[in-house]
Amino acid sequence: MERNGFERMYDYFENLATEYLDKAKQQIPAYETLFRLADCLLARELPDFAEVLVVGGGGGQEICSIGQDKDWRMTVVDPSEQMCRAANARAEEAGVAKRCEIRVGVVSDLPGEAVFDAATCILVLHFLDRNRQLELLREVASRLRPGAPFVVAHLVARDDPGENEWMLKLWSDLLVRLGEDPEVVARRNEDRQREVTMLSEEEFLDLCDQAGLEYQARISQTLHFTQWLLRKGE
Ligand SMILES: C[S@@+](CC[C@H](N)C(=O)[O-])C[C@H]1O[C@@H](n2cnc3c(N)ncnc32)[C@H](O)[C@@H]1O
Repeated sequence: MERNGFERMYDYFENLATEYLDKAKQQIPAYETLFRLADCLLARELPDFAEVLVVGGGGGQEICSIGQDKDWRMTVVDPSEQMCRAANARAEEAGVAKRCEIRVGVVSDLPGEAVFDAATCILVLHFLDRNRQLELLREVASRLRPGAPFVVAHLVARDDPGENEWMLKLWSDLLVRLGEDPEVVARRNEDRQREVTMLSEEEFLDLCDQAGLEYQARISQTLHFTQWLLRKGE
């Protein structure tokens, strides 16, 4: 898959990858809950030995918080070298490096066989335009065993521009109340409008359907951050 500029953004800024975790915890309400839920969703159905695909797992949060008491083999793909470096460092620190393979790349770089028992894709999809979201969902689906769970979390909106604007303002107000500079928050909002593709929930579920992924449940939603459990069709 050819990379677009945004997929490389974590490499363009010297400190983005190293500061990522702090920023994510500060700016994404319920960031850590996404991983606790992903861990539980996979732990309740995977055996002790399983192959897990972690899409966009640079930074290392997934490999350091999912399946810590399991022998799962985690294959991370992420196009950002810096984010992969950060993931490697955290994997070493957490003592999980032996069961992790961290690859600079995207899902289509992996062999095409359906060898994975589960997959995650947390806070990635909204950085891709609609077609690339579909492409990524298809690539993941083709590498999952039938019935395998797929935990996704990303920004989606309701098909209601008024509510969406209101929600974005609420997010900004929350960050300012937590101590962020209002000008920085406003600038980031403008950047986000250019950088992020927020599909409606219906559009997203339609893409899943086209990719052969079945909806199982909406697990959580905080502002526009929505977490889903999907499943590869049998
Ligand atoms: C906001 S970070 C999320 C990192 C991690 N999942 C987390 O939640 O802490 C988005 C990540 O997606 C990666 N990314 C961007 N495009 C991607 C693609 N097409 N496939 C896989 N990862 C991608 C970026 O390099 C970046 O590391």
